[in-house]
Amino acid sequence: MLLAYDDYGPGPVVVLLHGFPLNRSMWSGQRTNLGTTYRVIAPDLRGHGESAAPEGGYTMEAMADDVVELLDALQIQEPIVLGGHSMGGYVALALLARHPERVRGLILMNTRADADSPEVARNREEMIQQVEAAKSVEPVVKSLLPRLVSGTTRWQRPELVDRVHRMIEKTSIRGVVGSLRGMSARPDRTSEFANIRVPTLLLFGAEDVISPPELVHAMTKALPSARHVLIPGAGHLAPLENPESANTAFLSFLREIA
Ligand code: MLT
Repeated sequence: MLLAYDDYGPGPVVVLLHGFPLNRSMWSGQRTNLGTTYRVIAPDLRGHGESAAPEGGYTMEAMADDVVELLDALQIQEPIVLGGHSMGGYVALALLARHPERVRGLILMNTRADADSPEVARNREEMIQQVEAAKSVEPVVKSLLPRLVSGTTRWQRPELVDRVHRMIEKTSIRGVVGSLRGMSARPDRTSEFANIRVPTLLLFGAEDVISPPELVHAMTKALPSARHVLIPGAGHLAPLENPESANTAFLSFLREIA
């Protein structure tokens, strides 16, 4: 499936995959900064933003193949630096597993390598039922929005919370349901994660309650070569909440692996 995407800037390719249930506009804070030195490609994953939302569950593998199809359509054969935020991180790990030759560096943001716990899978199923009963994505807004950003962001930047709210509301019911099904079916990639051979940056929000900072410690223990950065004042949407600190970390990693 051909995805909607942004493509800007010169230089080596960096692909950024947004989280659930957001879209490529979450990378607005990276545009002027990364986009002056790198060619940034930011798709809307299937079911999100301006990309189509087919029926059925969206496996992380299908989403990863969509991204590769986009790279092929853009005739990008050079290995890329692949960044994934949360669900985008699950997709990035699937892409690395399926198409290792396409990736020369990995940036995992506010994400995890393991599968859903039974409780999380149950919550996703309940969320699907609520969304289908309400015929609206409002139950997702209600449950997710309060946990997405840090207390600092909520207090200092209410306009950003409104923006995220609108981003979620743009996601269709089919997109929400397909992604929830796909995320709960995703495999545990913990052992693959420990065997990653490309340079990897782990970037997390210091106040993230969805992918809490303890995960970084577990992940760096599994993959000691990974660099890691905790973004101050940020919750689950670290690159959006504190783009200055996130961009500094991205640029220093990208320079290091050039
Ligand atoms: C995301 O931000 O993409 C989601 O929180 C991921 C998830 O629900 O596991």
